[in-house]
Amino acid sequence: MPIIAPSVLAADFANLQRDIEMINRSDAQWIHLDVMDGVFVPNISYGMPVIKAIDELSDKVMDVHLMIVQPERYIKDFKEVGADVLTVHYEASTHLHRTIQAIKDEGMKAGVALNPHTPVHLMEDIIKDIDLLLIMSVNPGFGGQKFIQHTYEKIVQAAELIDRKNAEVLIEIDGGVSPGNAAQLTQLGADVLVAGSAVFSAPHPEEVINEMAYL
Ligand code: DX5
Ligand code: ZN
Repeated sequence: MPIIAPSVLAADFANLQRDIEMINRSDAQWIHLDVMDGVFVPNISYGMPVIKAIDELSDKVMDVHLMIVQPERYIKDFKEVGADVLTVHYEASTHLHRTIQAIKDEGMKAGVALNPHTPVHLMEDIIKDIDLLLIMSVNPGFGGQKFIQHTYEKIVQAAELIDRKNAEVLIEIDGGVSPGNAAQLTQLGADVLVAGSAVFSAPHPEEVINEMAYL
């Protein structure tokens, strides 16, 4: 059964407490928070004060996905506002090994995210050091985009790499995930499924989360 991580990016920000409480009631184990800086991606989302407020309301594992340049500058700050898992982009951190160690030193799980064009084999020399590999299944920056089919192949490659290196790494898929593709993603080896618009645009968001959680 996959871990479901509803993405707050698609929530109603004027009713954030209501939406966080819905996630608390659901079978989601994680809550996914997207931080965008308008530089690494062409969009700006939210930052520390909003994450802190969510942390105070949420019962779930706080899964923070940084779409920002030089993420190493803010590791301590994200720990302070409640991040449990902190994921940085491969494309945004020049000294990735050092960044990963710094995240772990703060007592958080460390994740690396790959853009759709970044091959899985580039993880060869870092896979043993990370806790999570986030494979972007859309170009980062916006919710509600179409799932990129090539992701299926990347999940198989990631599972093979993790197995070959005897690593303990969760595979997370982010972008265009819905009840329509969740079963296939899980069968191929995905452990964590992020879902934004599929959850929050549904008439009964909690049911969509629970449907995916019991695959
Ligand atoms: C996109 C974000 C995603 C986004 C997913 O850059 O990383 O987490 O919220 O949204 P959906 O599920 O709508 O594709
Ligand atoms: Zn994300």
